[in-house]
Amino acid sequence: MHDLELYDKQLILAKNKKLLEFIDLTILESVSSTNDYLKTINFTNKIAVCVAEEQTAGRGRLARHWHSPFGQNIYLSIGFDFPKDISSLVGISLVVGLATLNAIKEYGVVENIKVKWPNDIVYDNKKLAGILIDANAEINGTCSVIIGIGLNLNMMDDIDVIASNTLKPWTSLKKIIGKTIDKNKMVSLLISNLVAYIKQFELAGLGIFMEQWGSYDYLHGKIITISSDNNTEEGICQGIDQQGRLVLQLNKGEFKSFASGDASVKKFRHGPN
Ligand code: BTN
Repeated sequence: MHDLELYDKQLILAKNKKLLEFIDLTILESVSSTNDYLKTINFTNKIAVCVAEEQTAGRGRLARHWHSPFGQNIYLSIGFDFPKDISSLVGISLVVGLATLNAIKEYGVVENIKVKWPNDIVYDNKKLAGILIDANAEINGTCSVIIGIGLNLNMMDDIDVIASNTLKPWTSLKKIIGKTIDKNKMVSLLISNLVAYIKQFELAGLGIFMEQWGSYDYLHGKIITISSDNNTEEGICQGIDQQGRLVLQLNKGEFKSFASGDASVKKFRHGPN
């Protein structure tokens, strides 16, 4: 398998012809950001999916840059109309994280990949994938949602990443398993898992995913800090609550839930993973 395998619609849809009933797939060679591309599209009754070989202005959370070199990784956005109030989207980023993790497991990479609240996939304390949600409330009480996923596949070159000011430790599936990843197979698994998980979330909400989150929760039991605006708090992570908020036991023993923020591990309490 060559590292610069390009997207091929036939290959992506070959194993899952049923997907065609649900999705409109656009493949781009280069785009500023796949999330921004989907903002220009009217979703019909189908789910719109856009993948690009490169992004010239890839975006991460908190206005960070997302390093998006040509051909090496997956840059994917999925857009759809959600038939409920915007408040019903609470927890969707966690569910998308679980869908991404399941796609990676189905590909065959099983060991020690975890979800890190609110929307990262990590391996050995290094970032493997990130999720960015753009949602808009509509006047009729529904909302339109665009979810972007950046999944590091075959990226190996640290120099590039340092040059792009991506300071956080990162990894890629190739770094983990030592073999080039089949991008078309991985993206096909990612799309089918996303569609299935989002449909389940629409029907039943976050509740049915709580147990799965608990099994792969990277932060659970660790001493962490959580920063939002100008505030940083420290405590032992107790997992998430029914609203997808992160629950911390603070140093004085009381529990506090956080709806947003940046979490970092301070100390490993029960071992490294
Ligand atoms: C993060 O961890 O900060 C979120 C990263 C999200 C990156 C993806 S790549 C596809 C989509 N398009 C973007 O510009 N960003 C998301």
